[in-house]
Amino acid sequence: MIERYFQFLGEDQAKQLLIANEKPLTPSIRVNTIKIDVETLKYRLESKGFMLEPLDWIPYGFKINNAPFNLGSTHEYLQGFYYLQSIAPMLPVHILDPSPSDIVVDMCAAPGGKATHLAQKMNNEGNLILIERNKNRIPALELNLRRMGVSNSIVIYDDAVNLSKMNLKADKILLDAPCTGEGLIRQDPSRKKSKNKNDIDKLSVIQKKLLESGLNSLNPGGHLLYSTCSIAPEENEIVLDDVLKNNSDFSVIKISSNYGVDGITEVYNKKLREDIKHSQRLYPHLHDTIGFFVSLIEKSK
Ligand SMILES: C[S@@+](CC[C@H](N)C(=O)[O-])C[C@H]1O[C@@H](n2cnc3c(N)ncnc32)[C@H](O)[C@@H]1O
Repeated sequence: MIERYFQFLGEDQAKQLLIANEKPLTPSIRVNTIKIDVETLKYRLESKGFMLEPLDWIPYGFKINNAPFNLGSTHEYLQGFYYLQSIAPMLPVHILDPSPSDIVVDMCAAPGGKATHLAQKMNNEGNLILIERNKNRIPALELNLRRMGVSNSIVIYDDAVNLSKMNLKADKILLDAPCTGEGLIRQDPSRKKSKNKNDIDKLSVIQKKLLESGLNSLNPGGHLLYSTCSIAPEENEIVLDDVLKNNSDFSVIKISSNYGVDGITEVYNKKLREDIKHSQRLYPHLHDTIGFFVSLIEKSK
């Protein structure tokens, strides 16, 4: 893993990344505006001794700088007033920005961090279709949907590779793809050793199939947001490049703000599609987040 980091980041940045990976992550929450307004929740948590610091770019997201007790055991948590979510994973839905009039699909939905965020952005209205292939993860998804009061969604237990055969066209698709989780080392140090290059290769095959199926299910002018909690180019830019290769119906579009640094367009002696630079990478050593990747793809009209 470190050899690969040296190749695509350079020695200096790779060393900074390894150091930053050892620093604990400040917890953060996303206020569930389906159930409570931001000021009321802030007041309730602060009166219990929690210290909330607003995030710059998402008005209902907060870092928790002091937690007198476990954030997962407050009455407010159990009532679904907030979701425990680290900062970078709030980005995909923020960028995709679905509205109640969109047909929205989350291709890999469990346990529902981003699905509940999609519902929130849609004001809990319209059509939200959630797909999950792992039966064992569906109860956690259902529980979160219920806790957060989501009522505009249906859950489909299926392989999302089949989405393009479902006779369904969507305006907004979230593909938060299964990945090695290389970016999660700060949260879970066991990730340093739990996956190897073989796992990356296997996952990239699945990622490409899922991306193809998602793109084939978009309405003209529709958007697909691809994200992973991995910084491996093999799971991100190279997946996009392989799938989008020579396909002029789709383009990777610029995200309105810079949350991270540009996507990589030259790696392992390979030159990738130029528009892939509009993707964004977030790194522990540069952005004080987990390692994360987001890319917004548009289907031409
Ligand atoms: C990165 S996690 C998704 C996290 C989720 N988006 C969230 O924010 O809580 C990937 C999920 O995709 C599911 N998955 C993997 N392969 C899939 C497939 N082919 N079709 C549908 N779901 C799949 C996994 O079981 C896992 O729950």
